[in-house]
Amino acid sequence: MTVALVPGSFDPPTKGHIDVVERCANIFDEVVVGIVRNPSKTPLFSTEERTELLQACLPYDNVSVDSFSGLLVDFTNRRNIDVIVKGLRAITDFEYEIQMAQMNRHLSGIVTLFVATKPEFGYLSSSLVKQVRSLGGDVDALVPAPVKAALDERFPT
Ligand code: PNS
Repeated sequence: MTVALVPGSFDPPTKGHIDVVERCANIFDEVVVGIVRNPSKTPLFSTEERTELLQACLPYDNVSVDSFSGLLVDFTNRRNIDVIVKGLRAITDFEYEIQMAQMNRHLSGIVTLFVATKPEFGYLSSSLVKQVRSLGGDVDALVPAPVKAALDERFPT
């Protein structure tokens, strides 16, 4: 049985994230979505809120949502993860992602696989979604319905 981890901040989850996880769910036996708890950042949505949003967007038997703090490789060891999967939007993502993949391989030997995001989500990021929505822009087509509802609550018009 092969277990994949899709790690990230998911603040908030976008359609780009969901697409990557859905494709993993079709390839791997089990997929764990791992929300990083980063004490140095103040997220828009709490870890609990992000967990609920991801669960609502990913109603699949082989997908679960968990969170972790500290090193990613400690989490992968603890959860018996076989492979890390990251979405790649553009060449600009590659430089940072390959560094992390190689560091994680150095630390624990774990393999990282990259999934090319759907071209229509190539420009999409959680930070841009937050910025545009907080300034009154329309991001409805870029986030799943539960995230749209959560953003509407956070930024009433
Ligand atoms: O969605 P993000 O913010 O791009 O996700 C980045 C993430 C969570 C994959 C990265 O920040 C991470 O792995 N954090 C855990 C700390 C760690 O292990 N750092 C060393 C990585 S080489």
